[in-house]
Amino acid sequence: MSNQKPSDKKHADNTQEDEKFLDLALRPTNFNDYIGQDKVKRNLSILISAAGKRKDPLEHILIHGPSGLGKTTLAYIISRQMGSSLRITSGATLEKAGDLGSILTGLNEGDFLFIDEAHRLNKLVEETLYPAMENYKLDIIIGKGNSAKTLQIQLPKFTLIAATTKISLLSSPFRSRFGVNYKLDFYNQDDIEKILTRSAKLLNIRAEPEALKIIAAASRFTPRTANKLLKRARDYTQSENKEVLTANLASQTLDLLEIDHIGLEATDKKILSSIAKNFNGGPVGLKTIAALIAEDENTIEDVYEPYLMQIGFLARTTRGRVITQEGAKHIGIKLSSETQSTLI
Ligand code: ADE
Repeated sequence: MSNQKPSDKKHADNTQEDEKFLDLALRPTNFNDYIGQDKVKRNLSILISAAGKRKDPLEHILIHGPSGLGKTTLAYIISRQMGSSLRITSGATLEKAGDLGSILTGLNEGDFLFIDEAHRLNKLVEETLYPAMENYKLDIIIGKGNSAKTLQIQLPKFTLIAATTKISLLSSPFRSRFGVNYKLDFYNQDDIEKILTRSAKLLNIRAEPEALKIIAAASRFTPRTANKLLKRARDYTQSENKEVLTANLASQTLDLLEIDHIGLEATDKKILSSIAKNFNGGPVGLKTIAALIAEDENTIEDVYEPYLMQIGFLARTTRGRVITQEGAKHIGIKLSSETQSTLI
């Protein structure tokens, strides 16, 4: 149903795109198959059934939360449920107002436009979206300087679904134009086990329930990561000429990938130990941590920190990041008692 054009991908990260492609086979296509996020699902079902009865297009939807939790999947399910097409693009791809204009004018009545990474939209494109969202109008400026004219085009009634990992970076005029705003939370162990059981079935993997438990515990409570680990464990099982993915094989896969039993990788541990060892537990700024461990700030903020905070190993304060007692314990460091009393 997606009609993503190759040009939409020009700035996308290739590895991410590859994974997205692999994920297609596992992506649930209806709310029954979509496990977890019960509150969001319930609210969405109400929104969809009410709009269906009124024969109205859905109001614009904002979905935020850490990456890999299923924002794009939800957009697919919503559009499918409404029997409409989904056009996918990303905030970083839409460089000029014209880029957005050509997408909007290509939509049909009732279609969905999904903008991923909405916090990366530039001001000009964002402002072009406002009249489109409010009354399905597109203002086009023709010419330059004194002779410039504005032409207004009527657009088909469409629904914008915007997704972001950084809701705080969206301007309030933009945020206020969405009818609903949903937050996706990390999944729990049970839900991830259910997702893995479903994925194993779809991929024809015979797996011991204990193996799926081990993979779920190391999944950072994120379906995308869980599914990736399952595929790596499947590969390892096959390379060992085994028929069944056992608990042992699952643990060995994690060892090979240098991922510990709660899903921490070398970079997570570098982040934690740089705060504990170099800054006595913190607080320390993100820039400093990034420079010290030679990792990109955005990657630390988007990929590593959300989970470290979720499991209570890291905290953000106004003065910077601090490691918690739990975090220090996990990497085998004892914070001095002086440090302990000053941490949050
Ligand atoms: N794959 C990714 N997210 C999922 C979810 N919430 N339920 C089932 N399968 C998924």
